[in-house]
Amino acid sequence: MNNLSQLAEDQYCSLNYEHLPITITKGKGIYLFDDRDSRYFDFLSGYSVVNQGHCHPRLIEVAIQQLQKLTLCSRSFYNDQLGLFSEYICNLLGYDRVLPMNTGAEATETAIKLARKYAYEIKNVPSGQAKIVVMHNNFMGRTMGSISGSTDYYSYHNFGPLLPGFVSIPFNDVFAVKNLLQDPTVCAIIIEPIQGEAGVFVPDEGYLTRVRQLCTEAKVLMIADEIQSGMGRSGKFLACDYEEVKPDLLLLGKAITGGVTALSVVLGSDGIISLLQPGMHGSTYGGNPLTCAIALEAIKVIIEEKLAENAFKVGEIFRDEMAKTLNGKIKAIRGRGLLNAIAFDESIDTTHICHQLMHNGILAKPTRNNAVRFTPPLIINPEQMASAMEIIYNVLATK
Ligand SMILES: Cc1ncc(COP(=O)(O)O)c(C=O)c1O
Repeated sequence: MNNLSQLAEDQYCSLNYEHLPITITKGKGIYLFDDRDSRYFDFLSGYSVVNQGHCHPRLIEVAIQQLQKLTLCSRSFYNDQLGLFSEYICNLLGYDRVLPMNTGAEATETAIKLARKYAYEIKNVPSGQAKIVVMHNNFMGRTMGSISGSTDYYSYHNFGPLLPGFVSIPFNDVFAVKNLLQDPTVCAIIIEPIQGEAGVFVPDEGYLTRVRQLCTEAKVLMIADEIQSGMGRSGKFLACDYEEVKPDLLLLGKAITGGVTALSVVLGSDGIISLLQPGMHGSTYGGNPLTCAIALEAIKVIIEEKLAENAFKVGEIFRDEMAKTLNGKIKAIRGRGLLNAIAFDESIDTTHICHQLMHNGILAKPTRNNAVRFTPPLIINPEQMASAMEIIYNVLATK
């Protein structure tokens, strides 16, 4: 039945993903199960979505309750969940307002639109000249706005004409930021506090703090894309928390609903978020009561089950132990919390490594810069991590 699904997907579905040859039928906690009921450690977590673990009972329970009451009614009416979710997340993270969308890319698009409105209506940038600073190797999603700021060839090639107004600088380079912010037409800088898709790059200590200071001085919006690094993944609730930096706009998505439904949000001050008035922006599914009820519970699970703290602790164990595998071919272990990657010499085929890991019971995928990313659900405990590391260690020992 599921192999039939695999064949049908190959024949009828789009080809824009490279698969591992496995059909998943079930997920529970840190594990995925295939159509033969074989169990795997999930070290992809749906690209850092199921931080709370697969089918977390609290999320499923809330989803079932809400599914039986109301799933969607449009923001043209109030619903009895969106306000509660908005109040909770704004108070938790210290923002005035939240703008709900669905995917991470839509949150990025929203931030680009807000930054341009800010440029023309608050910073008085001459019409049509607003610039947004992005980082080399960023990943902001797959929409036209998101790819227009991309430096990855496959992401933007033959999709032009691209959106103008992006300037790209190296990540982790304070001087590049300082230079560019002297340009009065720059209205915003979009930054992943830890670059995920790029191969998990953590900036030097003090970098985020300096970017924050420079943005404040130049009246440039600091936009933190924590769609991947947020929600406890980095070992703090936000990766920006490592330097106690508060961005002007904060983008969250992925794990905000623990993988049950899609939700992304843009958080900011009243002055910025309110630049978007009726008729200027929206989303049919954005802020629907089903996703809001689930998101509220999903955030509470992260906090009450101390998942960021667990990610911090188990992540350190992972990096310390895996550092022992370093050799000429295995170049670096990078990361924070449970957002980690092992980077390999160019001679190593990372896809082959992921196939070997799969045959030994771990699901992981390559990411850019010849690395494999290791991002299990944040509920993984040290003993489970030890078992997984033994498998990884054995696979890497043959390299
Ligand atoms: C940092 C970052 N921003 C944006 C996105 C896009 O999110 P989505 O795939 O939900 O559109 C991603 C997805 O991986 C991401 O890692």
